Amino acid sequence: MTNSKSEEHFDDWRKKIDSSSQKDADFLSYFDTSGSVEEAFCQGYWDFAHHILKDDLLPLIGEPFNCSALEIGFGGGRLLNASSRFFNHVYGVDIHENFDKVSEFLASRDVENFTLLKGDGKTIPLEDNSVDFIYSFIVLQHLPTIDILESYLHEVKRILKPGKAACLYIGHLPFNLHGIKYLDINTRKVDTTRENTLLLRPQTTKKLLKKAELHLVASGRPRKKPWRQDLGAQHYVIVTA
Ligand SMILES: C[S@@+](CC[C@H](N)C(=O)[O-])C[C@H]1O[C@@H](n2cnc3c(N)ncnc32)[C@H](O)[C@@H]1O
Repeated sequence: MTNSKSEEHFDDWRKKIDSSSQKDADFLSYFDTSGSVEEAFCQGYWDFAHHILKDDLLPLIGEPFNCSALEIGFGGGRLLNASSRFFNHVYGVDIHENFDKVSEFLASRDVENFTLLKGDGKTIPLEDNSVDFIYSFIVLQHLPTIDILESYLHEVKRILKPGKAACLYIGHLPFNLHGIKYLDINTRKVDTTRENTLLLRPQTTKKLLKKAELHLVASGRPRKKPWRQDLGAQHYVIVTA
């Protein structure tokens, strides 16, 4: 896929997020369906506790009150709100243009220990070896190409302090049709932001992690929501740099 196609894909995200920004509840529901502002932030606590703070991860974090965390693709800030309570400082990177709204949500919830970073969709504007923990949830499945996922894995390796950990959710390809290892927007020809545009078999994810020199600690396929029975469209990996 050409760079300009990927740029169009990012622009689609920006426009759709901006067009949902008139009402707070609609804005938050755009990123993960919820019935109200309070419900969105409540689900943020559940998702952060259940999907990100995995037992395999906890011994790798260090003393969280002295640690920083970074979210790739923070959306409306529902997970940043949760992570800000656990960590000393939280960073979020995203490509959309409604950062003021997210800052207002967080400030109205008495969150001050955060920094929002404007990303180009492929790289992260933070120094080498500067962050203690990185997480990403329902974002990497929306990337337009596998190359961009590889770029983010490289960034995770670069930015994490040596030996520190990340918990990353990646679009899950549940079947193996004629040896297909992954599907990206090229092969699916979809054009909507809320569709899953990048799905990988877990084996393919493992190969990419190795290439990025990230060490796999644990992986799995979680339920979509803690209180539901059905599986989500992602698998997760816990890795160290
Ligand atoms: C479904 S929302 C999830 C937001 C948040 N992680 C959550 O769980 O509430 C996906 C977010 O990923 C962002 N996003 C999409 N492509 C991205 C990219 N290439 N780099 C960074 N963020 C991206 C979108 O702007 C959007 O905010």
